[in-house]
Amino acid sequence: MSRVMTESPGHPLRWPAALATALIAVFLVVGGAEADPGDPDDVTFAEDVAPILQENCQVCHQPGQIGPMSFMSYEEVRPWAPMIKDLVTRREMPPYHYDTDIGIQQLKGDKRLSEEDIQTIVEWVDAGAPLGDPTALPDPVEWPDMSEWRLAGEFGPPDHVIPSAPYTVPANGQDLWWEPVVPTGINEDRCIKAIETKPSVPAMGSTHHANSRFLVQNEAGEWEDFDRLSEFARGKLGEIVPQDACRTAPANSRVSWSIHYYPDGNQVHDDQVEVGIWYHDEDFDEEASYPQDLRSYRLQGGDYDIPPHGKLMTQGFHSFDHPVRLDSFQPHLHLRGVAMGLEVFDSKSGEREWISMISNWNAGWNLSHIYEEGYQPLIPAGAVLILTAWYDNSANNPHNPDPDQWVAAGQRTTDEMSHAWIAVTHLDQEGYERLLAERETEQPVAMTGGAR
Ligand code: HEC
Repeated sequence: MSRVMTESPGHPLRWPAALATALIAVFLVVGGAEADPGDPDDVTFAEDVAPILQENCQVCHQPGQIGPMSFMSYEEVRPWAPMIKDLVTRREMPPYHYDTDIGIQQLKGDKRLSEEDIQTIVEWVDAGAPLGDPTALPDPVEWPDMSEWRLAGEFGPPDHVIPSAPYTVPANGQDLWWEPVVPTGINEDRCIKAIETKPSVPAMGSTHHANSRFLVQNEAGEWEDFDRLSEFARGKLGEIVPQDACRTAPANSRVSWSIHYYPDGNQVHDDQVEVGIWYHDEDFDEEASYPQDLRSYRLQGGDYDIPPHGKLMTQGFHSFDHPVRLDSFQPHLHLRGVAMGLEVFDSKSGEREWISMISNWNAGWNLSHIYEEGYQPLIPAGAVLILTAWYDNSANNPHNPDPDQWVAAGQRTTDEMSHAWIAVTHLDQEGYERLLAERETEQPVAMTGGAR
């Protein structure tokens, strides 16, 4: 309606005036009916919208958390109603970017709203965002302390906590990297069940990234790389290793941290990031389990340059000489990155199938998409994983800070990156066939390659 009314005076009327007037009248009637606060069918905040926000938004949108505004009450939410409608319909919020119509949809910690919830929010905003009956408001949620481990709800407190060495984060400045090496205190090899990396509450806003890897001593007594421990970026829940897999925490090891701070205006004295580890129980049968690791899989190996206002697609190919199961997938691109997808191609059968697709990539959020137990793709030996990333350095990319720049691969936020973190369980032929057989009946989405 406002479009018709505001544009008309500036442009010569192209329609007969009577038709325009009639149309405006129709718009007014329709608009008026929608905004009627007395309509009992109206979607209201108290009854319909508050529960959705409690469940999906308040974890971040409450005082002291990372969301820039609080959504704890109607008064706090009301001014943002139009923007909420816009962001939920574009699936920008809650921040969990993963296509709803391609690949495996069964994901642990999936934050995507259902179509139904999105529709409820849209109808509420279109109805004028009414409060409704305040006595129908749901009871407030009791939120756990922000310093608590998020996986504690599922697994209890961690079995082992390894803090980084203290570092004073300045209030202002550029990107900072802090890379201390600390002893783990682990004195026998254990199988990891889950891992969570937790920034301190005061540095929650400035801890951009915190990666950690295990080091062990070789025969010459030198410390060398063992495996990745964890990878953390804002919004990420942690990593959960499937029941039948063992990710090893090695005895007599050290942790090498790579923490990327980006000052957010608050100085934090002697900050420490912590990694919490939950182990499989003592009676966990390591012999009967398969080894799992989390590695970074690169796309195009060499350098690339994205021209000003240009676009680029790059791919990476990986295969294994034994069957594997993929347990999680986490793309990593920066500001010009717009999408990444993962496919599998089996040359024996000629089958090519999508596993996962993120076509609304947002570099502000690095999430590990953990496939639900029983839905992880099973990949036959020799099949090829195809990773594809797309970049847009034009002004059409809303995250692009400067379309006039050449952009190359590099570490800084304004450079580009292209790799994916994939947790892989390394199977043998027998284990692969057993897992495949277990799925035959109940599993509609499986990467069976030539084996079925
Ligand atoms: C995991 C944490 C998290 C969750 C869950 C979350 N948000 Fe946000 N939200 C943020 C952060 C952080 C920002 C700041 C912008 C950014 O970094 O993307 C934000 C920004 C916003 C904004 C303002 C955007 C702007 O441009 O100013 C709105 C509106 C919003 N969120 C709505 C929602 C709604 C509605 C939900 C639930 C359906 C939700 N958010 C769930 C973290 C979250």
